[in-house]
Amino acid sequence: LFCGSWGSFPAPFPRPCVGNSVERKIYIPLNHTAPCVRLLNATHQIGCQSSLSGDTGVIHVVEKEEDLEWALSKGPHPPYMILLNGNLFSRSGFLGLGTPKFGIKSHFPCPGLYSEEHGPEFAHCNGSVWNPLGSGVSYEDFPFPIFLLQDANETETIKECFRAHNVPAVPGAAPQFPLCAMQLQSHMHAAASTVTCMRRSSLQSTFSINPEIVCDPLLDYNVWSSLQPINASGKVEPEKRLILAATRVDSHSFFWNVAPGAEAAVGSFVSLLAAAQALQAAPGALGLPQNVLFVFFQGETFDYIGSSRLVFDMEQEKFPLRLENIGAFLELGQVSLRNDSVLWMHTDPISRRNQSVDSQVRDLLDVLNRSSPGSGVSLADPGVSQPLPPSSFQRFLRARSIPGVVLSDHRGQFHNRYFQSIYDTAENIGMHYPEGLTPEEQLEFVTETAEALAQVGTLLARALFSLAGGTDPTESIRADPKTVTRLLYGFLLNSNNSWFQSLIKPDQKGILGPFPQHYVAVASPTNTTQLLQAVLGNLTGIRLNLSREECQDPGKNPALQSELYEYWWVQGPLDGNSTSRIPGCVRSGVRLSPALSPAFELRRWDSREFSTWTESRWKDIRARIFLVASRELELLTLSLGMLVLLLSLLCTFIPRIPNPQFPNSQTPKCPNPQIPNSQSQIPKS
Ligand SMILES: *[C@@H]1O[C@H](CO)[C@@H](O)[C@H](O)[C@H]1NC(C)=O
Ligand SMILES: *[C@@H]1O[C@H](CO)[C@@H](O)[C@H](O)[C@H]1NC(C)=O
Ligand SMILES: *[C@@H]1O[C@H](CO)[C@@H](O)[C@H](O)[C@H]1NC(C)=O
Ligand SMILES: *[C@@H]1O[C@H](CO)[C@@H](O)[C@H](O)[C@H]1NC(C)=O
Ligand SMILES: *[C@@H]1O[C@H](CO)[C@@H](O)[C@H](O)[C@H]1NC(C)=O
Ligand SMILES: *[C@@H]1O[C@H](CO)[C@@H](O)[C@H](O)[C@H]1NC(C)=O
Ligand SMILES: *[C@@H]1O[C@H](CO)[C@@H](O)[C@H](O)[C@H]1NC(C)=O
Ligand SMILES: *[C@@H]1O[C@H](CO)[C@@H](O)[C@H](O)[C@H]1NC(C)=O
Ligand SMILES: *[C@@H]1O[C@H](CO)[C@@H](O)[C@H](O)[C@H]1NC(C)=O
Ligand SMILES: *[C@@H]1O[C@H](CO)[C@@H](O)[C@H](O)[C@H]1NC(C)=O
Repeated sequence: LFCGSWGSFPAPFPRPCVGNSVERKIYIPLNHTAPCVRLLNATHQIGCQSSLSGDTGVIHVVEKEEDLEWALSKGPHPPYMILLNGNLFSRSGFLGLGTPKFGIKSHFPCPGLYSEEHGPEFAHCNGSVWNPLGSGVSYEDFPFPIFLLQDANETETIKECFRAHNVPAVPGAAPQFPLCAMQLQSHMHAAASTVTCMRRSSLQSTFSINPEIVCDPLLDYNVWSSLQPINASGKVEPEKRLILAATRVDSHSFFWNVAPGAEAAVGSFVSLLAAAQALQAAPGALGLPQNVLFVFFQGETFDYIGSSRLVFDMEQEKFPLRLENIGAFLELGQVSLRNDSVLWMHTDPISRRNQSVDSQVRDLLDVLNRSSPGSGVSLADPGVSQPLPPSSFQRFLRARSIPGVVLSDHRGQFHNRYFQSIYDTAENIGMHYPEGLTPEEQLEFVTETAEALAQVGTLLARALFSLAGGTDPTESIRADPKTVTRLLYGFLLNSNNSWFQSLIKPDQKGILGPFPQHYVAVASPTNTTQLLQAVLGNLTGIRLNLSREECQDPGKNPALQSELYEYWWVQGPLDGNSTSRIPGCVRSGVRLSPALSPAFELRRWDSREFSTWTESRWKDIRARIFLVASRELELLTLSLGMLVLLLSLLCTFIPRIPNPQFPNSQTPKCPNPQIPNSQSQIPKS
């Protein structure tokens, strides 16, 4: 085991050289895991971390709460590494671990609307408990590593190792060495708070050419488009009124980059996409007196990053619109779990105390109510005694009293039992396929969930048509369930499907894959944002007969009006049975706007007004299992190893008698240890 090469090891502490083949025999890496990582805001750190070189413990499989107690207090070989079933991974299971202090009922982005000045009775998230099932565990700080095992076969491997080595032959006796152990490594570079880590990074970048950055702000882009083209570099006239239709795109869970967000985000943004398509296709839509803006906000999970930035940009005149241009605001909250097809129309009781705002809100509710017959959605009013549920609209109301409505499937508490958890999957919103379908057949199969969300899209498109001043009957406006079902399949089950493949640019292949996740992240634009852009372009744009050069550089040709439109060179569908594609050019009004919290723009890292969430950097994240020997055996091995080392040193330094047969002979060298794969994060550009 010891072979003397101490120099090239990357770790801060020299470790004995362990030859590769030996390492492979001893360790079994776990290849499908997701860690809980550290996130920071202005005042706190949340998440998990291991010690610098990883935490090791004897594996104990916990099947009931007594097992946990045993490992924590009675087990003869502490520390233990606990393997916990998902259903025990609850507050009660965690309380057993003792260390974290629980206090928060359930976290919500509270820098929303309600404060001491605006509706003090609803401030601090009083007024309504939106997620009573939430444990708040995602917002706690754990001083030990926690990993999610994503592959049942790997879990079985661990359990087998546990059964073979850690379960004593006689119940109650202490198991015999060697024991099966696990090492989890997820050391985080940042600590304490965003203020601390950003100050450190900014000091470093002032004084060092090679600054060591320890945390990055969560950031991405909002995706927006308009019914009628808008000059991206110009300004909409102050007296013009537009209707804004919005929803959120991102979600979150306890584990890094595991954020399926089916009910929390996907159901809603898919409905909005369907509405955008239906409205664009409606006869006369392009001639409506008022324009309609569709906005998909990123980072809303982390104290409304996307919406607060858009409001900020509108105030700073960095967006073609100003806040006063917004005549009405329609937002889709969670909409996939309707009881009896009912959607609730939430409004803000505080701004409605103003007569003129209240009458505008009433008009808005009227239009919605008139659009509902025949759409399949019934609408209900929860009354004015209730505050708005968590929503992007709150960030707009903070800046200006805009008449608006948030539509959701819940009146009070969420119907979503898995809000911001790893279980908010396609199953949670009832997506089921008949058995035996191929992936391509699933893509086209219209599920009941898709039918229901298409109804929401239909209602929304009709309401937007009327709000924008359309006087024609709206019965012909319909969202397409086929499109909705493909979108759900693509954003929940597999984005690597034939439709999405035809929508992306040729260099974007890396964004497609199974089980897409919707975490906002620090490297942008994320897969979800890029896909959303491509899909919205397909649904609201048109295909033009342009050459690749013209399409990729439309600025050269004034006739293309590149200020009004975006041009995308897409790789197109497969050409019949061959493997080649028919590429083409798509023109649309789909654009990105930054979703980086204004707190970072203003360098106010202790901001209470804007989101300050950052993600810590790390070097290595890995998990592996192996057998450990008893302390005595380890000591024996160590002493033997030392002995061998001494002997070999002795051999090396005793002047050697030249061997006439092998004049160049040298002492055999052991192979250099390979530097383990460094899985550090992609730095943002
Ligand atoms: C930071 O997050 C913690 C945990 O969720 C929360 O208690 C605290 O209020 C947050 N701080 C700010 C300034 O938002
Ligand atoms: C687990 O192992 C079985 C049998 O070896 C195999 O058929 C199955 O595909 C594996 N499952 C996964 C998720 O790898
Ligand atoms: C992970 O992958 C490595 C290399 O492919 C393999 O040897 C190892 O058995 C895998 N781990 C598990 C737990 O299956
Ligand atoms: C867009 O706005 C810019 C700046 O106001 C202006 O120069 C340009 O002519 C406008 N383009 C169109 C097509 O209206
Ligand atoms: C009501 O709101 C309008 C604009 O939204 C404002 O001009 C007016 O002053 C407000 N009225 C009161 C009584 O605050
Ligand atoms: C983007 O998608 C690719 C392909 O599925 C995946 O490897 C990558 O991890 C994804 N990126 C993020 C941030 O989820
Ligand atoms: C996507 O699917 C194609 C076949 O349709 C396959 O060749 C490719 O490897 C897949 N990409 C990913 C990231 O799974
Ligand atoms: C959108 O995708 C569909 C299906 O692949 C295709 O038929 C249509 O031409 C596309 N539309 C645009 C504008 O690219
Ligand atoms: C597209 O344009 C090219 C040259 O500009 C022309 O030859 C071709 O016929 C056009 N195709 C269609 C479908 O209009
Ligand atoms: C594609 O292949 C199928 C079966 O292999 C064949 O029936 C069909 O005619 C082919 N289509 C084209 C356009 O070549």
